Amino acid sequence: MRIILLGPPGAGKGTQAKRLMDAEGIPQISTGDILRKAVADQTPLGREAKSVMDSGGLVPDQVVIGLIRERLGQSDAVKGFILDGFPRTVPQAEALDGLLVDLKRPLSAVAAIDVEPSELVRRLSGRRVCQACQAAYHVEFNPPKREGVCDRCGGALIQRDDDKEATIRRRLEVYREQTEPLIAYYKGKGLARLVNGIGNVDEISGRLREALAGA
Ligand code: AP5
Repeated sequence: MRIILLGPPGAGKGTQAKRLMDAEGIPQISTGDILRKAVADQTPLGREAKSVMDSGGLVPDQVVIGLIRERLGQSDAVKGFILDGFPRTVPQAEALDGLLVDLKRPLSAVAAIDVEPSELVRRLSGRRVCQACQAAYHVEFNPPKREGVCDRCGGALIQRDDDKEATIRRRLEVYREQTEPLIAYYKGKGLARLVNGIGNVDEISGRLREALAGA
């Protein structure tokens, strides 16, 4: 299975990607996670990306395309992958097409998760993430068993710097302008499968499983 999870910030891409990764035994490849790790490690890439991410903008295409080229070349991505947060612009999608042709590993499907903006703001403002394994929780909808502690690995839960309301609004605008056109792009290739993202996490997992059946 070689899939893309597409959808606005807070649609549940990361939550569902982790479940699919556990179920299918293929890696979740999240450009957001890769960039946040670079920021935490204070690498040159992290220093370049931090201010863009904190403002809710997009890191330059060539930078993230380079990250994906390197990541897809790793051995665990040979049997399949779940792309989460990439591609995010038409040039990124076109670069991915070329990369997958070179690797002779075509996409199986693109699942586009749809959630309305008011719900996205509620989800993002209550999100807490594990500093160690990046698992996502929500203070109301999906709380950890022990407050502030990750159920999966015992790591500390924190609020992301870009989960402040003004930055969330900017991220949603950037999504509408630059990423939403990818739904039409993948519809044109016969790969897009639309998934209603309203409901609890188990319900969305069930819908995704149905949408991706045979992929
Ligand atoms: P990235 O990390 O990719 O963020 P995003 O796309 O904005 O998506 P999120 O991680 O915010 O949301 P999600 O859909 O994964 O939702 P989640 O499952 O966590 O990117 C961050 C930044 O990095 C970008 O702004 C950009 O600067 C840069 N970047 C990354 N990739 C890039 C690229 N390709 N090009 C350029 N720049 C790039 O869920 C959200 C919350 O809701 C959680 O609290 C969760 O517990 C809860 N939740 C999940 N499902 C449900 C449900 N069904 N019901 C109720 N609550 C739910």
